[in-house]
Amino acid sequence: MALKITVIGTGYLGATHAAAMAELGFEVLGLDVVPEKIEMLAAGRVPMYEPGLEELLQRHVAGIPGSTGRLRFTTSWEEVGEFGDVHFVCVNTPQKHGEYACDMSYVDAAFASLAPQLRRPCLVVGKSTVPVGSATRLAALLAERAPAGADAELAWNPEFLREGFAVQDTLRPDRIVAGVGSDRAEKLLREVYATPLGEGTPFVVTDYPTAELVKTAANSFLATKISFINAMAEVCEAADGDVVKLAEAIGHDDRIGRKFLRAGIGFGGGCLPKDIRAFMARAGELGVDQALTFLREVDSINMRRRGQMVELAREAVGGSFLGTTVAVLGATFKPDSDDVRDSPALNVAGQIHLQGGQVTVYDPKGMDNARAVFPTLAYAPSALEAARGAQVVLHLTEWGEFRELDPEALGAVVAERRILDGRNALDPSRWREAGWDFRALGRPTA
Ligand code: UDX
Repeated sequence: MALKITVIGTGYLGATHAAAMAELGFEVLGLDVVPEKIEMLAAGRVPMYEPGLEELLQRHVAGIPGSTGRLRFTTSWEEVGEFGDVHFVCVNTPQKHGEYACDMSYVDAAFASLAPQLRRPCLVVGKSTVPVGSATRLAALLAERAPAGADAELAWNPEFLREGFAVQDTLRPDRIVAGVGSDRAEKLLREVYATPLGEGTPFVVTDYPTAELVKTAANSFLATKISFINAMAEVCEAADGDVVKLAEAIGHDDRIGRKFLRAGIGFGGGCLPKDIRAFMARAGELGVDQALTFLREVDSINMRRRGQMVELAREAVGGSFLGTTVAVLGATFKPDSDDVRDSPALNVAGQIHLQGGQVTVYDPKGMDNARAVFPTLAYAPSALEAARGAQVVLHLTEWGEFRELDPEALGAVVAERRILDGRNALDPSRWREAGWDFRALGRPTA
C-alpha cells in the first residue's frame, strides 16, 4: 500500500512540500497550529506569493472541482498520528530575539505534540533547519514519548528550496540528503522519493549530525560567495574597477563558477542571515567558534552594503536627504517572492526615510508585507507612480519588470534623471542613452 504522508507546519517549506508529495501520488495530510492558514489552504489558496504553488495545490486539495483529492488539511494532532506512515516536520526556526542562536520552540512544540500521538510504526522526518545535535536529542524524545516506542523512528532530511523556485526545487531537487539511524528509515525515504530518485537525483545517506550540517554548510557557502563578490565590489569602488566584469571573468573558471556572484546590496530573507548566525552560535557552544569566525566577516560585509547604498544615494542628492524625494523600486529580499524578511531593499528605504527623505516604494508583489513592516513609508501602485517627482530612483530588487522599464517614460515623470542600481541588473547604456545619470554599486566608472 502507498505510504500516507503528513506535513507539519504549512509555511513556505511545508505548504510546498505537502503539495509536492500529493503531486508525487501520495495521500497527504497537512497540519498547522494556525487555523486561518489551514482554512486558506483547504480552500486551495496560498498565504504567500510563490510561482506555481497555488496551481499545484488546487490540483490536489480535496473538495476542489477536478482535483485528485489527495491533499487535506487539519489542526488535529490526533488525526495526524492516526493517518501518517511518514511525518515531515517543516516548522520554522527563526533567529532568537536579541541573540544569534536559533529559536527551536516551534520544532520542540511540534515534537512534543506529535510524539504522544504516534501509536503505530512510522517515520518522523525533520526538514527544518536546526542546530547540529538537535536530531539526536529529538530521536531520544520520540523513543521516550511515542507509544509506538522504537517503531516511531527519526530521520533528518534537510531542504534546500529557494523562494521563487520552491515548486521546481521540491519536485526536482538537485540532491536529497538523508540522515538516518537505520536501514528501515533509509528504505522508507527511498520510497517517498522514488520519483526524483528514478529521475537520477543523487541520494546522500548519512548520520544525523552530518545531515544537519549539510544544510548550514550549504547556506554558509552561498552567503560567503555573495559577500566575497561584495567585498570585491568595495575594492572596485576604491580602485575604479568594474565588479560585474570581474565576476564574469573569474566565473569562467569552472572551479569558481558564475552563480551567486552578483554584487549588490547583499543577501537577506528568512534563511541566509539567520542561518549563518545560528551556525556561529552553535559552533561557540561546541567550542569551535574559531572555525566560523570568518562568517562574522561575511555577515558584516553584507550588512555594510546597505549603508553603502544609502551613502551613494545621499551623495546623489547633494549630501542630505532632508527635503528630497526618493523612489525605491523593490521591497522584497529577492524577485519572484513577496517575502520582505530582513530585506536589504526595505532596510535601505527605511534608513533613507529615517534620515529625512520622502521615500516612495513600489514592489510587484511585496507591497502588503512591506507596508506591515514599514507603515511610515509611502507606497505607489506602479514604478512610474513611485518615480513621479523623484530626485533619485533606487533599483533595489531585480524584478524582471524593472529591467523592462522604459527610461524615456520614467524620465518624463522624475524631477531628475538619476538612477542607482543596487543589484547590477540594469543595462547602463539604455539608461544613459535616455539622458540618465546612471551609477551601480561596485562599478563607479562602468
Ligand atoms: C536560500 C538558499 O539558496 C536555499 O538553498 C535555502 O534552502 C534557503 O536559503 P532563498 O533565501 O530563497 O534560499 O534565497 P537565495 O536565492 O539564496 O537568495 C538569498 C539572497 O541573496 C537574496 O537576498 C538575493 O538577492 C541575494 N543574492 C543572491 C545576491 O545578492 N547575489 C547573488 O549572486 C545571489
